Amino acid sequence: MEKLKHEEADDAAVTDNVSQVDYRSVITEFHRRVATVTSHGPAKAVEKHRERGKLLARERIDLLVDRRSPFVELSSFAAYGQYDDAFPSAGIVTGIGLVNGRECMIVANDATVKGGTYIRETIRKHIRAQEIAMQNQLPCIYLVDSGGIFLPEQAQVFPDRFDFGRVFFNQARLSAEGIPQIAVVMGSCTAGGAYVPAMCDETIIVRNQGTIFIGGPPLVKAATGEEVSAEDLGGGDVHTKISGVADHLADDDVHALRICRDLVSGLPRVKKREIDIAAAVEPEFPAEELYNYVSTDLKKRIDVKAITERLVDGETFQEFKAEYGKTLLTGFARIKGIPVGIIGNQSFLTAEAARKGAHFIQLCNQRQVPLLFLQNISGFIVGKKYEHEGIARDGAKLINAVANSAVPKITLVVGGSFGAGNYAMAGRAYDPDFLLMWPHSRIAVMGGEQASGVLQTIGGKENGLIEQFEQESTAYYSSSRLWDDGIFDPVDTRDLLGFLFRVTLNQPVKDARYGVFRM
Ligand code: COA
Repeated sequence: MEKLKHEEADDAAVTDNVSQVDYRSVITEFHRRVATVTSHGPAKAVEKHRERGKLLARERIDLLVDRRSPFVELSSFAAYGQYDDAFPSAGIVTGIGLVNGRECMIVANDATVKGGTYIRETIRKHIRAQEIAMQNQLPCIYLVDSGGIFLPEQAQVFPDRFDFGRVFFNQARLSAEGIPQIAVVMGSCTAGGAYVPAMCDETIIVRNQGTIFIGGPPLVKAATGEEVSAEDLGGGDVHTKISGVADHLADDDVHALRICRDLVSGLPRVKKREIDIAAAVEPEFPAEELYNYVSTDLKKRIDVKAITERLVDGETFQEFKAEYGKTLLTGFARIKGIPVGIIGNQSFLTAEAARKGAHFIQLCNQRQVPLLFLQNISGFIVGKKYEHEGIARDGAKLINAVANSAVPKITLVVGGSFGAGNYAMAGRAYDPDFLLMWPHSRIAVMGGEQASGVLQTIGGKENGLIEQFEQESTAYYSSSRLWDDGIFDPVDTRDLLGFLFRVTLNQPVKDARYGVFRM
């Protein structure tokens, strides 16, 4: 195909080693921020927590998962840069790890962050974890230590469809699907939060530490005048000997986590989808080279094929339609031995690229091959010529195929994610099983300069728009609001993808049914 003018101009700007030095500083800053958001609450709260003989949320998870299992923590940057940064990781840790060899979704309140209470992002994280568990048939383990709703935020977290009540609605639905749920009550579990253990299949409670009640002692006193201690109202002895709300009494955190591991080992095994998994072969090039192929300057075109070659098993990439619709890379490969179909942006989406993408998605569905979207997209091509050729119609085909695709899909933003390109490349609204960001990546309706230009053209005010877009489009801004499932170092991405694609093998096979493709 003849090269588009824009492409020729872009070719000169393909990233090279020059960006590496730059990118190292992006990575250093990323790891510094990870350390900040994963270090729990203020020192005073951590100290108080430890004095009570309790382990921190991430220490609990470390003991719960198998020694050699990775724990893939999701959305560590939730609430980052909001609420004066008083809610690191939104006061809850969620992620997937192996417990006695079984992939489990783990949800752990961090009581050192405002008593483990729930703000909007805490709820979104909890609910997202349940959605992932539902989709991938993962047993859920809730390590509960929470004062329920963070009261000053009640209007943001209580009444709406996806607010606090959705957590228990999801528990009921997970249960109805036969997905096991276990609660380990390691601290407070109050008001609505009491339903977390009450709605689980099995509940473990730590003696003299865990409490479950609909109304705590101060509320009981205010409501009825009755004076009662927390332990007598809803402690471990009460619930394992009198009420029957909990099933197993543990002496301390370590004991409770051991009981939980034992319970998981007794769960019925579910068979994963049977596919042909080959032995994993390391890529031909070291993962660190990925830093050479990305740039903080999103105007530079990046070579998504080079990125692909550093993510997939050595020499397994088989390009599809290499000579057609070249702004979109499509092809089959294996990641850690698992067959995947890859769709990556080399540049904006043209009509040919959109048709090629839709064709490739149909192929992957026909062959039951999961999809990996590598997003670096400024949008669809614009201009009179392209509108006359019907770019909107071809774009619609791709969007139709992405929306109705039934194989697992993971989206990784390796650069920019802008405009309708975000939709066509399986953005959040298209229900990818996981949506992952690289630290420098950006997501917005368009770039700040373009938005400013548009507003100037139509006579609107554009005061500070470039800065606003700059700030609101960062990966951190996105992750803080749960628009994605987390930010990851490019170097760790291959292992991460292998792990997550393996998780999606728990999904039952579904057939795709497409709507009307406008021809
Ligand atoms: N809403 C808002 N803030 C809350 C809160 C809530 N529900 N529960 C706790 N906090 C805050 C406290 O004000 C304190 O904030 P600070 O660090 O800025 O001073 C912080 O969380 C820690 O609380 P504290 O009581 O000091 O810690 P604790 O470990 O001794 O006790 C709880 C934790 C959760 C057991 C206790 O705070 C509690 O019972 N909270 C009320 C629970 C409740 O009734 N919830 C109903 C809401 S549905």
